[in-house]
Amino acid sequence: MDRILVINGGMPKGGRTELLTRYIARKYDVDYIDISDANLPFLTGEEEQWRLPSVINFKEKVRFSSGIILISPEYHGGMTGALKNTLDFLTSDELEYKPVALIATAGGGKGGINCLNNMRTVMRGFYANVIPKQIVLDPECFNYDDASLWDEPAQLVNDLVKELQMFIKITSEVASKM
Ligand SMILES: Cc1cc2nc3c(=O)[nH]c(=O)nc-3n(C[C@H](O)[C@H](O)[C@H](O)COP(=O)(O)O)c2cc1C
Repeated sequence: MDRILVINGGMPKGGRTELLTRYIARKYDVDYIDISDANLPFLTGEEEQWRLPSVINFKEKVRFSSGIILISPEYHGGMTGALKNTLDFLTSDELEYKPVALIATAGGGKGGINCLNNMRTVMRGFYANVIPKQIVLDPECFNYDDASLWDEPAQLVNDLVKELQMFIKITSEVASKM
């Protein structure tokens, strides 16, 4: 579907962020990357890091996508440090004008918005086109029995995906006329 790529910035296997990533990939038939499987080093800026197959592969996957769903748990008021390290391997070559949708998983108690704001600021630094809709999912949004979401959060995710598809369409139509 539209070559949407989901990037899962959560770390523990079996966590809510992984559940959500699998749910979206399954429901919308889209590709995903778990950053914990991407095998990227800590970015040191050393030249040879850019030649690592894991780095080249990650950058290619992002470049090939027509839109991104970026998901992170909120960790101490931001995205995970591991996700930020992963994103730092990218440049605007992969992300300029690319539509990006944001979802934060959070612990409840009104958390999550700072993670969204953090991801929005960082994506803007790549000149990505972050769409207006965004979602925070608290622990009670998840149906753990069948690894899915309850109806209301599922509808929010559906609306987000629809808006992302709209921006992907607009982007490709404008690009084809330039
Ligand atoms: C190191 C750490 C920091 C966290 N900081 C926050 C926070 O600032 N705000 C918040 O709402 N939840 C916070 N949480 C809760 C997580 O965002 C929440 O449990 C989320 O579902 C974790 O994702 P996971 O289930 O994929 O592991 C934190 C959890 C951890 C482990």
